[in-house]
Amino acid sequence: MTLERAVDSDREQSVTDEVLASFDGTTDPRLRTIMTSLVRHLHAFTREIRLSEQEWEKAIEFLTRVGHITDDRRQEFILLSDVLGLSMLTVAVNEPTAPGATAATVFGPFFIDNAPEVPLGGDIARGAAGTPCYVSGQVRSTDGTAIIGARVDVWEADEDGFYDVQYSVDHSAGRGWLHTGDEGEYRFWSVLPVPYPIPHDGPVGDLLVASGRGPMRPAHLHFKVTAPGYRTLVTHIFVAEDPYLGCDAVFGVKDSLVVAVDHHTAGAALDGSVSERDWASINFDIVLAPEDDR
Ligand code: BEZ
Ligand code: FE
Repeated sequence: MTLERAVDSDREQSVTDEVLASFDGTTDPRLRTIMTSLVRHLHAFTREIRLSEQEWEKAIEFLTRVGHITDDRRQEFILLSDVLGLSMLTVAVNEPTAPGATAATVFGPFFIDNAPEVPLGGDIARGAAGTPCYVSGQVRSTDGTAIIGARVDVWEADEDGFYDVQYSVDHSAGRGWLHTGDEGEYRFWSVLPVPYPIPHDGPVGDLLVASGRGPMRPAHLHFKVTAPGYRTLVTHIFVAEDPYLGCDAVFGVKDSLVVAVDHHTAGAALDGSVSERDWASINFDIVLAPEDDR
């Protein structure tokens, strides 16, 4: 016979109250708000699920594994935040309110600071394998003004689904940055994005398996766009009709970021060059919100 443990609400509440009171001396008001709210929600969660001591130990072991696998090249805590939807919720909470601004999405773990600069119309693939893809568009403000000299950083996986930093050889490919031209225009050659799995050989991958969830992300190309006076935009474009659009492992898809791809046979390309291989093109305009839009 299973005996239900009696719930002593007063004893449980007194633990929560004592912990909350321990933050009374916090001089930074924002830190105090964050910590007391965290304690309230964490304690409510513990009571709601009636957390067992074995489950508490399992959670500690899981977080310890997340810590141990994290290093300069792999950030399992961000991955955990991503698969729990915390990253996308944080993006949503901070989304600009200006109508027409391009939607933001997750940053992901594969951006690096020292990517090479390429000229307008240049090649960011730089040896990354894949179908050549010409990407172009305009960067403008929510009031319609073209933004000249905006910095456009782009990065993407190759046709095997790997970013340059995931290879053991040290090389830079599938990433670069450029400045928009006199009409706010940007253009570059890259490779056609393909779907790929997030790193799933660690504790976060185990969690996905235990939850019957897949690790795949739909095909996408990352953008980070910065310009003085405007809010920095971190986003992706997603390839229309990708089979994983409805089940992105990190919940990053927004309808407004899904773009059509035009496919072309080898020959004259949009920029006047000649492609010896079949190629693709994508057009995507980017709209930045003013800096004071909070
Ligand atoms: C990515 O798009 O590169 C990514 C985003 C979140 C987690 C893992 C990978
Ligand atoms: Fe990515």
